[in-house]
Amino acid sequence: MPARLAEDSPPVLPHIAIELASAVLRSVQAIAAFAAQPVRRGPRPWEEHTASGLLAAARLASHIEPGSRVLDVGCGSAHWLRKLRLFREIDAVGVDLAPPPSSDGITLLRYDGQSLPFPDKSFDVTLFGYVLHHVGREHARRLVDEAVRVTRRRVLLLEDSMPEFDFWYRLRNRCHRLETELVYAAQADAYVPPDGDAMFLTHAQWHAFLSAIPGIASVAVVPLAELFRNAHHTLVVAELATAGD
Ligand SMILES: C[S@@+](CC[C@H](N)C(=O)[O-])C[C@H]1O[C@@H](n2cnc3c(N)ncnc32)[C@H](O)[C@@H]1O
Repeated sequence: MPARLAEDSPPVLPHIAIELASAVLRSVQAIAAFAAQPVRRGPRPWEEHTASGLLAAARLASHIEPGSRVLDVGCGSAHWLRKLRLFREIDAVGVDLAPPPSSDGITLLRYDGQSLPFPDKSFDVTLFGYVLHHVGREHARRLVDEAVRVTRRRVLLLEDSMPEFDFWYRLRNRCHRLETELVYAAQADAYVPPDGDAMFLTHAQWHAFLSAIPGIASVAVVPLAELFRNAHHTLVVAELATAGD
């Protein structure tokens, strides 16, 4: 008698029964694992963040040495400082025109949007997260000069920047500026709307702007386009001249 081919054999259990048994066993596993936890765990700190945000924070963290004192200028809700602390042990300070109260060991202070209330070289790294495109050129220069004054190693910028802005990006930037002028003017007395054009600079323009500032030794523009849905997210790293340079 010819041997039966394997594919001719009827399955031991019908496919649907296997699916059903597997679903029941998975549910029991999940219940048992939940019941086995010694204490009920609260929310995990990474759960409040998006995957894109966490990936961008990991990039930022690669420019921050462990143990650094980090200042976030225009910190908003201080979410970058909270994300950075998932990757680096840092001493975190944020300033904003209208900051939320300090919490979770992060010091948050109000500032006047012009000068930074800290002594010279009192931070290792200063971050501006999507702040400088909300001010005019002179104002941005003043803020970066202040950052260079209070910082020892480097200034990091997250910015809305592209190699070139096309029609759709120019429209987007114009609307973003109008929208945020309305919102910030309502939120903070110290807010000063941009005089002239807001700082929506291309990669080359950010490079030129920062390279011309005394105290900045080198500038690198790092597109973060692959991390976000929109292509404009950009990291700019300005290394400061140290005393020996
Ligand atoms: C687009 S939000 C960014 C907030 C946060 N850094 C982030 O990345 O999500 C811009 C922030 O800059 C702040 N800011 C700080 N100094 C400012 C200034 N001189 N002019 C305008 N906005 C300023 C605003 O209050 C606001 O919180």
